Amino acid sequence: MNVILFGPPGAGKGTQGALLAERLGIPRIATGDLLREALRQGTPLGQQARTYMEAGELVPDDVILGMVREALDSEAARGGAIFDGFPRTLAQAEALDDLLRAMGRDIDAVLVLEVPDDVIVKRLSGRRTCSGCSAVYNIYYDPPRTADVCDRCGGVLVARADDNEETVRRRLEVFREQTEPVLAHYQRTGRPVIRVPGDRPVPEVQDALANALDAVSRKTVA
Ligand code: AP5
Repeated sequence: MNVILFGPPGAGKGTQGALLAERLGIPRIATGDLLREALRQGTPLGQQARTYMEAGELVPDDVILGMVREALDSEAARGGAIFDGFPRTLAQAEALDDLLRAMGRDIDAVLVLEVPDDVIVKRLSGRRTCSGCSAVYNIYYDPPRTADVCDRCGGVLVARADDNEETVRRRLEVFREQTEPVLAHYQRTGRPVIRVPGDRPVPEVQDALANALDAVSRKTVA
């Protein structure tokens, strides 16, 4: 299956995408994670992306598409992928259509996580990520056993550079202005676009997403 997990910053795409990837046995292609890894390694791509990310702006399409092409070419993605945080512009959506078409594949579903802005701001101000193993916590909703220490590997938990309130507000604006319109492309081209309330406990949201995908699969088979 090829599934797009769509939603504003902090909607839970990473959290739900990881669970869904495990459930479906396919990789999650998360452009934000790929960019942060490039930043961490200090690659030229990471250097190029840094100023955009810190300002809450979108990284240029050509940079993103190069990364996605490479990830899709991998052996692991042969059976499909969960796209998290991608596509974010119409140009990215059209390029993904072309890439998948060339592989004889298509988007099976677009799952949209809907979360109110005030919840998003609270979630992102409380997010902490392990500097060792990248596990994600939330000081309000899913705190570690010991403050600032990862339960899994003992690494130090840190806030993301773009999770300060000013940048979060800008990321939300960018989402409304540049990314949300991408949904019209999927509706226009007849791909299933399914909206799921994301402001529920993590397991409930996961069940709703899995049920939505089951319904899509049943329709495809029928
Ligand atoms: P990216 O990393 O994609 O960030 P984002 O879309 O802003 O999404 P987030 O990672 O902030 O949130 P999420 O929806 O994954 O939520 P999460 O599960 O972590 O992009 C960062 C930047 O990179 C962009 O601003 C841009 O500059 C660049 N970029 C990336 N992709 C690009 C592209 N395609 N084109 C151009 N530029 C691109 O959850 C958030 C918090 O809430 C966590 O603490 C979690 O524990 C908690 N939480 C999750 N679910 C729940 C729940 N149900 N209840 C309570 N708490 C919850």
